[in-house]
This record gives sequence, C-alpha cells and structure tokens, in this order.
Amino acid sequence: MTDPFPVRTLGTTGPTVSALGLGCMGMSALYGEADRAESIATIHAALDAGVTLLDTGDFYGMGHNELLVNEALRTARATARDRAVTSVKFGALRDPDGGWSGYDGRPAAVKNFAAHSLTRLGTDHIDIYRIARLDPDVPVEETVGAVAELVQAGYVRHIGLSEVGAETLRRAAATAPISDLQIEYSLVSRGIEDRILPTLRELGIGVTAYGVLSRGLISGHFSKDRELGAGDFRAHSPRFQGGNLDHNLGLVERLREVARATGVTVAQLAIAWVLSRGDDIVPLVGARRRDRLHEALGAVHVALGTDDLAAVQRAVPAGAAAGSRYAAAQMSALDSER
Ligand SMILES: NC(=O)c1ccc[n+]([C@@H]2O[C@H](COP(=O)([O-])OP(=O)(O)OC[C@H]3O[C@@H](n4cnc5c(N)ncnc54)[C@H](OP(=O)(O)O)[C@@H]3O)[C@@H](O)[C@H]2O)c1
Repeated sequence: MTDPFPVRTLGTTGPTVSALGLGCMGMSALYGEADRAESIATIHAALDAGVTLLDTGDFYGMGHNELLVNEALRTARATARDRAVTSVKFGALRDPDGGWSGYDGRPAAVKNFAAHSLTRLGTDHIDIYRIARLDPDVPVEETVGAVAELVQAGYVRHIGLSEVGAETLRRAAATAPISDLQIEYSLVSRGIEDRILPTLRELGIGVTAYGVLSRGLISGHFSKDRELGAGDFRAHSPRFQGGNLDHNLGLVERLREVARATGVTVAQLAIAWVLSRGDDIVPLVGARRRDRLHEALGAVHVALGTDDLAAVQRAVPAGAAAGSRYAAAQMSALDSER
C-alpha cells in the first residue's frame, strides 16, 4: 500500500487539504496553448495521487477553467471527486480582447460572480471563495461580508483572500473567519516574510502559495529559447526579459547544483523549500501535464535538512532575483505590495 498523501490545515478555521494543491490556471490561460485532454488527465492523476485542493478562477479563460474543472470532477473516480476541495477566485474584470479592466468587490457583484461560478462548476457549493485582488473602491468589510452571507446561505464553505497586505488582513479577519491568503511565495519572491506571514500566523490564517516555480522560471525546464506568445504572462513579466532573464537563469544553475547534490530535480527543490517554510503553507503547483505533475508531487517526500536549506540559501539568497514579480501596472493592483 502506498503512503497517504500528506495533508495540512488552512488556518484555524479552514479545511484540511493535501499538502500540495493543483493550480489549474495554466490549463486555460496565461501560459500559452494547453491540451484539454491532457489537462483533464492531469487533474485526474492529481486526484488519484491524493491531491484534494484544486484552485481556479472565473476569469481564467473567462469560464473555460471552471468548465474544465467541472468536466474533470464529473469524470473522476467518485471517491476522489468527493474529497476535492475547490478554491475559486472572482472579481477580475476583463474585456473581449483579454484585457484587464479592474476588480469588482461590491456585494451584489460578489453574489452575481458566485451564481455564475456555481453553475459553471456544476456544484451546489464552493469550498473556498476569494476576491482575486482587493477592489480599491469597496471596503474589504463589504466584500468579505458578502462572501460571509454566501457562507450563511450554504453556497460557500470558507472565505479566502488573495494578494492583500497586513492591514487588510486584520480588517477582513475582524469581519469573518478567513481560511487562507493566496499569495506569491517562492525562493525568488519572499516579500511576505517581513510583515504578511507574521500577521497571518498571529491571526490563524493559512497560506496557499502560488508561483512557487516563479511561473516556470525556476523549474529547471525554462530556457532562453522558449517562444512565448503575446498572451503569455511571461512575455511581459520583468523577470523573463533580457538581462533579467539571463541573471535569473544563472540562479537556476546554482539551484541545479544543489538539487543534484540532494538527489532531486530543480522544481522539486524549489517546491520542497516552500513546504519547509511552515506547516501553515500549502504550495499550489501549476502543472498542466502529467509528467510535470508527477515531478511536482515528488517534492512532498523531499525532506530538506539544515545543510540542504543552507545550500539553497547560499545559491539563492532573499532578493536575488532580477526584475519585479509583475509588470508595473499589475504591481499597482497589489494591496500586498503597499
Ligand atoms: N491569487 C493569484 O493572484 C494567483 C496568481 C497566479 C496563479 N495563481 C494560482 O496558482 C497556481 C499556480 O501558479 P503558477 O502557475 O504561476 O505556478 P508555478 O508553479 O510557479 O508555474 C507553473 C509553470 O511552471 C512550469 N513547470 C515546469 N515544471 C513544472 C513542474 N514540475 N510542476 C509544475 N509546473 C512546472 C509549468 O510549465 P509548462 O509551461 O511546461 O507547462 C508552468 O508554466 C495557478 O494555477 C493559479 O491557480 C494565483
């Protein structure tokens, strides 16, 4: 019999989920073409391996991602489907060209988004529901209050947040129980360590960490020859441009040496490092192919010792990456960066 997949609990009020979640975004948007059949096979393989947390958003391919998750869950083995925990983001406003035009956290909008998501997901409830970015025109108490009403009505089980800072966390937590903050955290994005992580721990809120491979940059598989379409996030991301990319891929080569000495792959080392930062952190891996998924899930059994962690720290000290984690316009929408 194989060992059960390790689990972690999201905050003091959130659900217990697999120690690694599957982020489904890249199966519909932002990282170029994805293969639908392979995406569904990847979700099935994750569920079969013991992954329970599936992360999606209503604006990932404008409903495409939720419909994909719906199909994958409908066709999954019943036992795996019943264990699945859905984490859904809402609030991003887009236009038919794929442009981004802000965020809407008004209570009536929150309920409208939820009605669409429940239908697309083909479910009577969403496990964790969160606005993708704080709407600067709506007090967080109103947005979180609207999700709390959805909890009361049984349509949502837990309230999450995404990319908000310490002050907003406190206000949100004073309004209703918050299960987790979804935020970027990796060897090359360590901004949460100073204020946000201590605040989360004080408030009993967990973390679902995204970008643990910095969008593939520190996966060990990215190279300068990779062609990126105009719709690919990485075509515009500062970290993937010119001299920044050269510098950052140099860091990956340093990680590769540590990974080789540890007997793991670069991606596994990067994911295992995030896992090592605390039992309150659940990394979301963005695999959209089964080979990548199996590599990523292998990280859950990698125990990094003190010497390994010191070697990782020497290879990639905090602040080592060149370029910000988002382009300037997107950085300005991040409450977490204020
Ligand atoms: N709350 C937010 O603001 C926010 C923002 C972004 C993402 N998210 C969520 O977090 C999830 C993960 O984020 P992310 O996709 O940026 O994370 P990521 O894991 O840093 O990057 C995923 C990318 O890494 C590449 N990769 C290479 N080897 C991999 C491996 N072994 N396992 C997994 N990926 C590998 C993938 O490759 P290929 O290109 O070869 O497929 C994919 O392009 C998303 O799916 C989404 O659900 C949330």
